[in-house]
Amino acid sequence: MPLSPRIKTALPGPQARKLVKLDQKYVSPSYTRSYPLVVKAAQGLWVTDADDNLFLDFTAGIAVNASGHCHPTVVEAIKTQADKLLHMSGTDFYYTPQIELAQKLAQIAPGRNRRKVYFGNSGAEAVEAAFKLARWHTQRELNLAFFGAFHGRTMGALSLTASKTVQKKHYNPFVPGITHIPYAYCYRCAYNLTYPDCDLYCLSWVEDTLFRTTIPPEEVAAIFVEPIQGEGGYIVPPPEFHQKLYAIAQKYDILYVADEVQAGMGRTGKMFAMEHFGVRPHIMALAKGIASGMPLGALVADAKIMNWEAGSHASTFGGNPISCQAALATIALLQDGLMDNARIQGERLMTGLRELQKTHACIGDVRGKGLMVAVELVTDREKRTPDRDGRNKLIDLAFKQGFLLLGCGENSIRFCPALTVSAAEIDTGLTIFEEILRARAKK
Ligand SMILES: Cc1ncc(COP(=O)(O)O)c(C=O)c1O
Repeated sequence: MPLSPRIKTALPGPQARKLVKLDQKYVSPSYTRSYPLVVKAAQGLWVTDADDNLFLDFTAGIAVNASGHCHPTVVEAIKTQADKLLHMSGTDFYYTPQIELAQKLAQIAPGRNRRKVYFGNSGAEAVEAAFKLARWHTQRELNLAFFGAFHGRTMGALSLTASKTVQKKHYNPFVPGITHIPYAYCYRCAYNLTYPDCDLYCLSWVEDTLFRTTIPPEEVAAIFVEPIQGEGGYIVPPPEFHQKLYAIAQKYDILYVADEVQAGMGRTGKMFAMEHFGVRPHIMALAKGIASGMPLGALVADAKIMNWEAGSHASTFGGNPISCQAALATIALLQDGLMDNARIQGERLMTGLRELQKTHACIGDVRGKGLMVAVELVTDREKRTPDRDGRNKLIDLAFKQGFLLLGCGENSIRFCPALTVSAAEIDTGLTIFEEILRARAKK
């Protein structure tokens, strides 16, 4: 295992520059590249770029490579399956990996109810399927979702999303009937209240105001909620938030749809992030970490709820046999120690970042669970003034030092390394982060 990044060229290096130019000529300009990293190969937590520079990766390909880059067990499972069957479409035919993965997901989903699983290829497809299933099952037209939420970019998922206007600009009209409400982002409370004195007013407001004035609750199909908001800024709500919201949902027979796409699959130290909050959602959307990098989305729902008829929803590629085998191998690794490692290394990371917060006033908040950790950058800690520019500069400086990070929310940096990360790699990341905080402070 390498001990530290190795940057041999100016960044981007000559090969990377050439490839970026070619990309700019042929690839969609809608992608959001924070810095010009051109990846050639990767192993574990370490990424080699086109010029053979070596980077420490705390992005895991946007929280996807749960078992690290190219984990040998996952690669072996992929190769073995590739020799047998690449595709047959689980929509029209049966094959073992899809059935086995559905059984596995049904077994590990929290609670005792029998579950059924629908397969797609991405997070957005899992959310889209949840949206359709909720309508199909309840025959209700309205839905609630949260400000700050990111649920994907297809039209249904995008209609539920309320993260950044650039994601929605020029795409109106959206699917009607969705109302966004404030999430418990207690560092920046929408109602200017303070937890716990607020008694979670953001939730009582739903029942006392929203349901009394504008939204008849008996017409609401589902509440779509991330257990911990991901793209919105790695926002961890108070411990009782989900139970209180779930109680409201139960009262009006509204389905509780947990979007576990980013927070799920062991990243927070439990298989599903909702387990931290003691809530058993009716429907869970899964993707990202589920197959360590192979494209796969899954919807896990109570069998009683997943009662749509044949032909009502399907996908040609969903539940691809190779992706399913990669997922089965990933889940076995998660259960075999990676989930525990996420908890242990996540605590080490949070402790280190909290130490840095003591000496660096630009760190307004440190938050997270397991290996879903963020720091929020501010220009004034008292006033909590967001420092978006400073955040972007830090991410760029980190890249130049061979440390890969991503932003989230308006002014936060997320740390979401693979669940295989070692204590030494956490310490290397913290050391580099401290260096760049110092370098930035001097400017
Ligand atoms: C919580 C959540 N839901 C859905 C999605 C959409 O996933 P995908 O990009 O695979 O469509 C994301 C992606 O970041 C996400 O974080």
